[in-house]
Amino acid sequence: MSDDDVELEARLEEQEVFEPSESFVSQANVSDAGIYEEFEENWPECWEGAADLLDWEEPYDQVLDDSNPPFYEWFTDGTINASTNCLDRHLDERGDEAAIEWVGEPVDEDNVTLTYSELHEKVNEAAAALRDLGVGEDDVVTMYMPMIPELPIAMLACARIGAPHSVVFAGFSADALATRMNAADSEYLVTCDGYYRRGDPLDHLDKANEGLGSVEHDTDTVVVDRLGPNGDDFGHDLAADQHDWGELMAANEGATVEPVDRDAEDMLFLMYTSGTTGQPKGVKHTTGGYLAWTAWTSQAVLDIKPEDTYFCSADIGWITGHSYIVYGPLALGTTTMMYEGTPDHPDRDRLWEIVEDYEATQLYTAPTAIRAFMKWGKQYPEAHDLSSLRLLGTVGEPINPRAWKWYYKHIGDEECPVVDTWWQTETGGMMVTTLPGVKDMKPGSAGPPLPGMDIRIVDTNGDEVEPGRAGYLTVNKPWPGMLRTLYKNDERFIEEYWREYSDVDSDDPDDWVYFPEDGAKIDEDGYITVLGRVDDVINVSGHRLGTMEIESAIVGVEGVAEAAVVGGDHEVKGEAVYAYVIVEEGQEESEAFREEIVQGVLDAIGPIARPEQVIFTPELPKTRSGKIMRRLLEDIANEEELGDTSTLRNPEIVEDIRKVVQGN
Ligand code: WTA
Repeated sequence: MSDDDVELEARLEEQEVFEPSESFVSQANVSDAGIYEEFEENWPECWEGAADLLDWEEPYDQVLDDSNPPFYEWFTDGTINASTNCLDRHLDERGDEAAIEWVGEPVDEDNVTLTYSELHEKVNEAAAALRDLGVGEDDVVTMYMPMIPELPIAMLACARIGAPHSVVFAGFSADALATRMNAADSEYLVTCDGYYRRGDPLDHLDKANEGLGSVEHDTDTVVVDRLGPNGDDFGHDLAADQHDWGELMAANEGATVEPVDRDAEDMLFLMYTSGTTGQPKGVKHTTGGYLAWTAWTSQAVLDIKPEDTYFCSADIGWITGHSYIVYGPLALGTTTMMYEGTPDHPDRDRLWEIVEDYEATQLYTAPTAIRAFMKWGKQYPEAHDLSSLRLLGTVGEPINPRAWKWYYKHIGDEECPVVDTWWQTETGGMMVTTLPGVKDMKPGSAGPPLPGMDIRIVDTNGDEVEPGRAGYLTVNKPWPGMLRTLYKNDERFIEEYWREYSDVDSDDPDDWVYFPEDGAKIDEDGYITVLGRVDDVINVSGHRLGTMEIESAIVGVEGVAEAAVVGGDHEVKGEAVYAYVIVEEGQEESEAFREEIVQGVLDAIGPIARPEQVIFTPELPKTRSGKIMRRLLEDIANEEELGDTSTLRNPEIVEDIRKVVQGN
């Protein structure tokens, strides 16, 4: 342990509760503790305040229509356009202020500031260009792009013309792109030639083209030229159904597109996320409720004000970037930052350099990043003036108290509150976290449910558990930002999220309970500690991966007979992928074959799912009914004491596998 760690632990280790600083509270957007009671008494009308943060074309009739649970409708019959709310309405007062500060990889000093007027102009041109291509209302447009300004421009252009977007994380593989385009019947793709990683140009169009090869219907593709001449070596030629973004934009220079009136319940976007089965789930978010939810939580939790320069280091390819880089912050008219690169290039102080240069006021990042910063050492943040920061946030996975305290001290100088925000792709926005101007913080615990949320920790029967005991997190009342269904699959929506704790034959909303598949416990003060997923989903560096998706990729490799994937603890990533593999008769268990298996995963999903270890085993531990006992495999990966093996059909195999992994 370094001297610094010793000092930090001595002073902060004992401290379990942290009060927000007076300087923060005195200026916080929400500082009245009465809000909790007020929302409870006035539910669901309490959400009118969130809707009031937006400009509506037609006012809504009813805050919540819960007549057909779990198909709840919010702000019924209201009409609204998301791009108007993120752009047009800010033009008078903030037209010349920065909407997006884009920081590129430090290759050619080509950072971009887009003012609200400029962004508005570009979004209009892009909307006109997409329309020219034939994109109509309700056509799903897929985007497969890294963190370049054209990504939010294309998203807002879609919102303007009422075409839902489906953004696929650029790090995903060609196969993953094809699966998502096929599932959504998406006929349009916006992508780019390539991008930079640690200073080097990286081919992206090649991967997109490979994916398009497996799309079952005709498509039109728009290609952004990110690399210019640095991409010449890739030798890309656009096919007949591929169009150059720059040319389309030039052809539509100065165009204006009337925003389409969308019903509050019309789809704003789809986002595919991992679930228990191999098939990703198409989470559907709507226009009114989602926008109200992201705007309200951005204001209440992230404390965003128009004059802020707010920095979220997530990728827009995930829900965090959708809600808290694009829609929430822009709806509030603030300056939102986008960073294309990685935190360790050209050096490990890259984020701190950006915070200092842009005088960022908030930083919202993931625990995995904080654990990496901690490992690199405090000298990196110490070399920069971070005093512009007012609030820190984390999202994506549980944060351990040590990492929380390091963040609080070395980044926030013990002045910035830290909000640990629990939520999911499906919830659209934050659900459990402290209101930073109201509540004390407890490192390791996300905090109480937000006002208006009815969240309970229950046992398998649905009865609330005692404080301190582990149980399952459930949401007992609907909220505006919730997913409305899984795309074209209402049945799976009910199966995945509701059946467990609901009376699915009932019309009474009180009988319907949303189950996010997380384990959790609650303390005497109502603070919730989220323990992690209880389904077959693992969380690698804050990225959600289905073990079944990885298993099917592995089984797809010739020579593999069977595979089981589990998450094992990892110091920086939180969890890492452990793959247990049975090979086919005659297949050698060689290092080369291990690499083939790893490559199979990279091809099917992408580098985020790269197995940390591939373990060859003659058998997998199975119950008598033939179910793989993943829990035992997890115990082995984590070198924990092995759980009960007596119900196994083949208990002896467990010891054999343990020896292979642990080497003794
Ligand atoms: C986990 C990311 C503990 C959780 C916004 C959830 C967390 C899954 C936290 C959703 C947190 C997210 N503390 N666990 N503050 N935030 N999770 O859909 O298991 O990518 O179910 O959404 O991440 O991941 P998703």
